[in-house]
Amino acid sequence: MGVEVSVEGLTKSFGSQRIWQDVTLTLPAGEVSALLGPSGTGKSVFLKSLIGLLRPEQGSIVIDGTNILECSSKELYEIRKLFGVLFQDGALFGSMNLFDNVAFPLREHTKKSESEIRKIVMEKMELVGLLGAEDKLPGEISGGMRKRAGLARALVLDPQIILVDEPDSGLDPVRTTYISQTLIDINAEIDATILIVSHNINLARTVPDNIGMLFRRHLVMFGPREVLLTSEEPVVKQFLNGTMIGPIGMSEEKDEATMAQEQAMVDAGHHAGGVDDVEGIVPQMKATPGMPFRQAVARRQERVRHIMHTLPENAQIAIQDSLDETSGGNGGGGYDYAYSQEDTQVIPAYRGEGYENTTHGQG
Ligand SMILES: Nc1ncnc2c1ncn2[C@@H]1O[C@H](COP(=O)(O)OP(=O)(O)O)[C@@H](O)[C@H]1O
Ligand SMILES: [Mg+2]
Repeated sequence: MGVEVSVEGLTKSFGSQRIWQDVTLTLPAGEVSALLGPSGTGKSVFLKSLIGLLRPEQGSIVIDGTNILECSSKELYEIRKLFGVLFQDGALFGSMNLFDNVAFPLREHTKKSESEIRKIVMEKMELVGLLGAEDKLPGEISGGMRKRAGLARALVLDPQIILVDEPDSGLDPVRTTYISQTLIDINAEIDATILIVSHNINLARTVPDNIGMLFRRHLVMFGPREVLLTSEEPVVKQFLNGTMIGPIGMSEEKDEATMAQEQAMVDAGHHAGGVDDVEGIVPQMKATPGMPFRQAVARRQERVRHIMHTLPENAQIAIQDSLDETSGGNGGGGYDYAYSQEDTQVIPAYRGEGYENTTHGQG
């Protein structure tokens, strides 16, 4: 099973520019989590911090018992071997065919024979649906296929933690769904801890077990998918509905006057864009039939039961519904709320400027 990644009080600046501060979250071992946020909120910076490519000035990142902000470079090197990373642009070598691209980490970091390498590469190519395209150059294939090849390459060293930066960027909705399915299948197959960074609403609604959101230099919340998907937090609702109305503006931040002006336009009949009031929760994607059972599902159910009583009411109802569904609609009998308060994952509310009174789950 993948390992847990535990981030506490993490703060990152470039010079005098604060990117985010006091970010605390735990990626549960072997589960799929997603970090959402408008463009420029520092999602990629967060991802790069997790593998030690960027160095936050405060806080800790504990992976497999090691705080990577305090460990030696030798220890960091070892920790990095746990990771498979798909960067935003796929980062394939343009002059190498897909086979050699995917084989690259194996040739670079292991002493495996060419026949062993071939076996592993073909296995991963099959997992991402690229069998038969080994001889193609990156320039000869679609963006979606390049993403898949990047994903295959991220998988060859059997990572326990997989970081995926915007797997959907540049893909149409159907291709995005295919790559979403692939991510779920990978989780079923190798039970790795997965973090997906994205601003794709469909992916956020259907793929992750846990969701967090960055906005205005803060982590607005992080917890089981039901918490964010039923949240009443204005920034979360706006993001999920993709509308212009709300705190997110063209240049990320909006002042009160602009918000009032836009609301007035909408009140007068102007379309605010997006999908009006998509409420509630759509079912999570499942592994493709024939794949191994996704063990994260059962583990997460157990974990969520433990923290259930700490979650907002809307989230509790949604979780109860999904439990009823998975237990065959028998009312989810035997439910027990008397659990300990430990390992609560939810950050109650965003406390940034202008948001003092916001809570979520008030219905
Ligand atoms: N290496 C860097 N040096 C200085 N500033 C950076 C660096 N990397 C990212 N930034 C800045 O950090 C902010 C967040 O960037 P990024 O993480 O790419 O956002 P996102 O992935 O959420 O769209 C941006 O303002 C960007 O300019
Ligand atoms: Mg980015």
